[in-house]
Amino acid sequence: MPSVTHIPVMMREVLDALDVQQGGRYVDCTLGGAGHAEAILERSAPGGTLLGIDADPAAIERGRERLARFGDGVRLVQGNFSDVGDIAMQMEFAPVNGVLMDLGLSSFQLAEERGFSFRDDAPLDMRFGSEGLSAAEIVNEWGEAELADLIFKYGEDPASRRIARRIVASRPIGTAVELAKAVEQAVGRRANLKSHPATRTFQALRIAVNQELASLATALPQAYGLLGFGSRLAVLSYHSLEDRIVKEYIARESRDCICPPALPVCQCGHKATLRRVTKGALTPTLAEVAANPRARSARLRAAERIAVAA
Ligand SMILES: C[S@@+](CC[C@H](N)C(=O)[O-])C[C@H]1O[C@@H](n2cnc3c(N)ncnc32)[C@H](O)[C@@H]1O
Repeated sequence: MPSVTHIPVMMREVLDALDVQQGGRYVDCTLGGAGHAEAILERSAPGGTLLGIDADPAAIERGRERLARFGDGVRLVQGNFSDVGDIAMQMEFAPVNGVLMDLGLSSFQLAEERGFSFRDDAPLDMRFGSEGLSAAEIVNEWGEAELADLIFKYGEDPASRRIARRIVASRPIGTAVELAKAVEQAVGRRANLKSHPATRTFQALRIAVNQELASLATALPQAYGLLGFGSRLAVLSYHSLEDRIVKEYIARESRDCICPPALPVCQCGHKATLRRVTKGALTPTLAEVAANPRARSARLRAAERIAVAA
């Protein structure tokens, strides 16, 4: 097998969005291959420190090797970023100058044949770590209606009912290739389709297995809670469902009043706690996408913690 690397996405934009400072303290919630983490440590040297978190123990091991030269400046914890507040408190790692989330999975995980790719002739697992239900359990044990709802909600696939019916008829499904085949049988393979017909079903299962949307929604306010004034939160997302959560969180926290527009006078008393750093979402350059096709769907949003107006 050719050696695998994970190319960090939108590296320059991420470092700029975080406004990495010499001697600063950073949390990387999604260590992965530790590419962003390494660059943050380099740019914050001398004196910069980083707490790296990943659900995947293999990412933590890789990070230990890659970041060894930074010595005590690096702390690594295997865990879910939905606990980032507690993890940072336990490590006495707050306040921080920046928090990064680079969502989804790494090229290492894709290459490890855990069922993330429809080409994997390997057990359908899809867990970032080792906790919770595997994709095989969902596919083989959930009812047809539940499966259809899942594929519609998290995969946004209009053919969800047909796909769910075919999945149930094809049980037991053991591998990713078998699942991909069942989806293809349900919807056919149109030559003009840019992506594999099972792409949306795989996305839906991955989101459900790792509770990706709930973890993100829980993590954002915790990440904010770790920031000092003037410190930054940066999030790279790869599909519209997670980007929407980030966008709405930042939009809400950047506004002084969140009352319904119909109310003539503010009754909520909500105060802005964030200032948007990116105007809308930043996307990778065409050159980056050409060099690293996995960057193509990336959206970067960032915000800075501000003092609440009296
Ligand atoms: C896209 S990779 C990060 C790549 C990294 N920025 C780099 O430069 O190599 C995403 C990583 O986040 C981890 N991850 C995804 N969801 C997580 C969660 N809820 N908690 C902790 N880690 C998570 C995955 O295991 C994966 O290793």
